Amino acid sequence: MQSATPSPFELLLVDRAALVEAELRRVLSTAPLLGELARPAHLMAAARHGVLNGGKRLRPFLVIESAALFDVDAATSRRVAAALECVHCYSLIHDDLPAMDDDDLRRGQPTVHKAFDEATAILAGDGLLTLAFDLLADEALGVSPKQQLALVSALARAAGFGGMVGGQALDLAAEKDAPDESGIIALQAMKTGALIRFGCEAGAILGGGSTEDRERLHAFGAAIGLAFQLADDILDITADGATMGKKTGKDAAAGKATLAGLHGIDWARQQLAGLVNQAESLLEPYGERGAVLKAAARFVAERKS
Ligand code: IPE
Ligand code: IPE
Ligand code: MG
Ligand code: MG
Ligand code: MG
Repeated sequence: MQSATPSPFELLLVDRAALVEAELRRVLSTAPLLGELARPAHLMAAARHGVLNGGKRLRPFLVIESAALFDVDAATSRRVAAALECVHCYSLIHDDLPAMDDDDLRRGQPTVHKAFDEATAILAGDGLLTLAFDLLADEALGVSPKQQLALVSALARAAGFGGMVGGQALDLAAEKDAPDESGIIALQAMKTGALIRFGCEAGAILGGGSTEDRERLHAFGAAIGLAFQLADDILDITADGATMGKKTGKDAAAGKATLAGLHGIDWARQQLAGLVNQAESLLEPYGERGAVLKAAARFVAERKS
């Protein structure tokens, strides 16, 4: 995935991705769920195009591995992981639309509005967002109704006006407003950070962890979320489109304020290293069990695509 010889972490990421993709394939079939009338074949094909197209599946990985800290049942964490990936993929489908970033390529393939049409892409995104909450509310999830409610509420807030969607609005405005460093950090904490934080916190919710666990994983998610977007912004400057599977050089072309653009790549790389240290130290209380999430923090900072 990342290089000719995948690291042990990358192999684990691929392994977890396959499990989540099986779940995603299942819930995105044309067979209607109980209570649904019919699922239009072309709409489901568009949704599958936007989801089953080779993402890294980092957010699902965070759900699965944060849940593993608390010995959560694997089928349960896989479903929550799939729900989060549905929200992420919806955000990408809409992010690529002509009214937003106007991109033709995603994960090395035509974006959903190119492969289908704009209206279908909008509706595929809408359906994915809704499906995510269906998965969390489903009785089959196998956790208490109180935990389900906590998941629904946390994902809604991560995805909504004060989370990813709000961050996307601020991000588009940043092409004109030129926010300063703290403004950029705040918008990125929403645009990218919120879903990543949810992924980390979900494990503590599913595992019935203490408030302290939840706060610790929230802080871990905040650190790697910022690191993730910093890496995305550096790669937008340094990487080529073929490696990334999406167009690069776009932030500067759009006049978009990013931290890497504001302070330069060397500064951004230094910040990344600091964020990884911070993320790793937050996991100290989990000892050896925290090793996989620590590796995830390093991967986020060092990723090449
Ligand atoms: C891309 O996210 C969008 C951002 C938030 C920067 P990813 O880099 O996780 O994309 P996929 O899911 O692997 O394609
Ligand atoms: C996308 O940010 C963030 C979300 C979809 C929420 P970008 O616009 O920077 O992501 P890419 O570079 O298109 O993947
Ligand atoms: Mg964007
Ligand atoms: Mg974009
Ligand atoms: Mg980007």
